[in-house]
Amino acid sequence: MIAGSNAPVSSFNPPSRVLMGPGPSDVPARVLAAMARPTIGHLDPAFIGLMDQIKALLQATFRTSNALTMPISGPGSAGMEACFVNLVEPGDTVIVCINGVFGGRMKENVERCGGHAVLVEDAWGTPVDPAKVEAALATHPGAKAVAFVHAETSTGVASDADALCALARAHGALSIVDTVTSLAGIPVLVDAWGADAVYSGTQKCLSCPPGLSPVTFSDRAVAAVKTRKSKNQSWFLDFGLLLGYWGGGAKRAYHHTAPVNALYALHESLVLLHEEGLDAAWARHAKMHAALRAGLEALGLSLLVAPEHRLPQLNAVCVPDGVDEAAVRARLLERFGLEIGAGLGALAGKVWRIGLMGASASPTHVTLCLSALESVLTELGAPVTAGQSLPAANAVLWG
Ligand SMILES: Cc1ncc(COP(=O)(O)O)c(C=O)c1O
Repeated sequence: MIAGSNAPVSSFNPPSRVLMGPGPSDVPARVLAAMARPTIGHLDPAFIGLMDQIKALLQATFRTSNALTMPISGPGSAGMEACFVNLVEPGDTVIVCINGVFGGRMKENVERCGGHAVLVEDAWGTPVDPAKVEAALATHPGAKAVAFVHAETSTGVASDADALCALARAHGALSIVDTVTSLAGIPVLVDAWGADAVYSGTQKCLSCPPGLSPVTFSDRAVAAVKTRKSKNQSWFLDFGLLLGYWGGGAKRAYHHTAPVNALYALHESLVLLHEEGLDAAWARHAKMHAALRAGLEALGLSLLVAPEHRLPQLNAVCVPDGVDEAAVRARLLERFGLEIGAGLGALAGKVWRIGLMGASASPTHVTLCLSALESVLTELGAPVTAGQSLPAANAVLWG
């Protein structure tokens, strides 16, 4: 018992769940087993070897040769903050694209760094409009950076990262790109895009527990960090200091105690990804999405986003009129141990968010989700067509 409380304490054993929300996704047994291996020192020569492998695997995953490529010890939000605190100084202007929740967080970051955020807003459920970004760059010629979310998890929309990075470059601005939900699910081509500061998260298409944020900086971005006029407001996320630990070479200086076992897990998830092959992983996400979509449409449900802008790994499904969306999610969890996500912000109550991320992008997940949804929606009297959904999905999966 805890002093002052009568509540008994014991080991925590989580219930069995199937994770098909906006993340975390299901973590493969190999990744969990890697995490349970003995902790060693974070400056142990064996651990330094592991760090070098993680950097090389992340470079391959981001499709970049950027030397500054490493995982930040913190979740996706820490990677986001690392990009802004290293690049944005007081008085800098940053074009911030907002088409969902996470663009809004970028604006917060710019303002907390003392920067001026120029907003380019698009409706939730639609991509960032490059023409609006170009207009904003034209009216703010000194802008330091353009920041946008490649895969908006709040809506299931992909934006055209290639076009947006090219626009930033053409106007002498850096690009800051959120790939938390896109990395390993759809192509993230850092060098081909010419992207400058890119961050991600471990708990989505990498199928690793949450808590680390891979980042990569181009040489242009590194030069901007090195020529800063003001001291970085953050000690923990200051790349000038962090690189003493994560930078190349055998001499690594203590900066903070790295989350050793979390890094074992990240390494194993990257090994798994590269055993499958990155192109194969993208193709698997696309195929599982096609099967899920076929099944949902056969059930009578529709997707929020226009087909050409949909993310395969995050499906925003419109809640039919008169259906209590929270009751559906609660029943899916209770009966099937299946977690799907609710709508966020402007889409709360209007959509469910069904994730097909990493290990959760499998035929088993697709068929469980469709049959569980059909069962629960039929029981709750929702206007759905029974008996058609699995055949439609199976035709895509096995046909
Ligand atoms: C697009 C996007 N950016 C940033 C984040 C923040 O990541 P985290 O929750 O790991 O801090 C998320 C989390 O869902 C996200 O989906």
